[in-house]
Amino acid sequence: MKKLFAFFKKNKDTKDNIELDKSKIPEHIAIIMDGNGRWAKERNLPRALGHRAGVEAIRKVVKECNNLGVKYLTLYAFSTENWNRPMQEVESLMKLLVEYLKNEFEELNNNDVVINSIGNISKLPRLCRVELDKAYEKTKNNKGLVLNLALNYGGRSEIVDAVKKISLDLKNKKISEDEITEDLFSKYLYTGEMPDPDLIIRPSGELRLSNFLLWQSAYSELWFSDINWPDFHEEELKSAIADYQKRDRRFGKVK
Ligand code: FPP
Repeated sequence: MKKLFAFFKKNKDTKDNIELDKSKIPEHIAIIMDGNGRWAKERNLPRALGHRAGVEAIRKVVKECNNLGVKYLTLYAFSTENWNRPMQEVESLMKLLVEYLKNEFEELNNNDVVINSIGNISKLPRLCRVELDKAYEKTKNNKGLVLNLALNYGGRSEIVDAVKKISLDLKNKKISEDEITEDLFSKYLYTGEMPDPDLIIRPSGELRLSNFLLWQSAYSELWFSDINWPDFHEEELKSAIADYQKRDRRFGKVK
């Protein structure tokens, strides 16, 4: 029994004591918040309660990212494909979003967080759009973490939208063909002037990007874990960052 206790204590200590190099904190972290449904199923709960538990994980991770000095945190909250889920689940996700914005606004604003969104927001229910616009307008001049909620987001539609905007600017002679470079293209994406994600995290054991930040992930470091999103806490975030800090990022060059 004593040995077992020592084992748990040792493991807890190791997790709590993750030392991070403050000079190598990723500027932009992006997370595919997966596994809410499985988390609920394991507990014989409705899927909506899995998503609700996922919001708790969001709270912890946003706070920790802000404390660590991460500049951008992009959370994949609703994909262009998620409309194909049962109507009840879609509705519960939209309701959770409104609740989150209303309940968390004050604390996020007090902590200098910018509440932003990426994706085709125009297709979201009116109440979601109203709350998102309000939150952005009130926080856009904050200087802390930029929290990007990816909503009705799809990497492929983002690229198609960028192509359409570029075509229009070409037609209206706002830009010329030889001005179209990778840098210019990036600026037409939903992420605009933001840096590409340094680190993309996906919990729940799935090993794919699922249409998330397809252009921007060209040189992102990927980190996967088996635990479901509602169980993703500060320690997992720190483990991911500690692992990232050990990686040798060469961007195709030779050192
Ligand atoms: C994927 O898990 C998760 C989602 C599609 C939604 C994520 C949403 C939240 C965490 C909460 C709402 C968002 C905000 C910003 C308040 P899944 O349902 O696909 O899980 P499964 O693969 O285990 O079924």
